[in-house]
Amino acid sequence: MASNIADMLVAANAARANAHAPYSGFAVGACLAGKSGRLYAGCNVENAAYPQGQCAEATAIGVMVAAGEKAIAAILVVADGPEPISPCGGCRQRLCEFAGPETPVYLCSPDGLRQTVTLGELLPLSFGPSHLD
Ligand code: THU
Repeated sequence: MASNIADMLVAANAARANAHAPYSGFAVGACLAGKSGRLYAGCNVENAAYPQGQCAEATAIGVMVAAGEKAIAAILVVADGPEPISPCGGCRQRLCEFAGPETPVYLCSPDGLRQTVTLGELLPLSFGPSHLD
């Protein structure tokens, strides 16, 4: 596992440990590597009013933007289960706001990388900021 991915997984696992997921019991962590090289991690934050819950990726995007960065170089998602989990449809769109089709998305279990895909594979023909130019 490349050192950058290893560092991202450490950050995502640390965030995942703080997940607020009392309803699903499914803790998720995410880490975004900004083009600056800085890492931004997040966890899912559920709510008793279920639709108000937030995915780990959305939390990480908020952390990144609040820190002043808006360009994603790599994305990592971590959860525990028999299959690698990948960002939900809504988060694919959220990520496209700040990343390109070639941006790698690392799908991880808590102890390592399981699969690498690109954002373009997850959301082909996406609608993005360039369509509003
Ligand atoms: N979840 C994420 O945080 N990220 C994903 O990519 C998929 C799903 C969360 C949402 C909810 O809190 C829990 O996982 C179960 O759906």
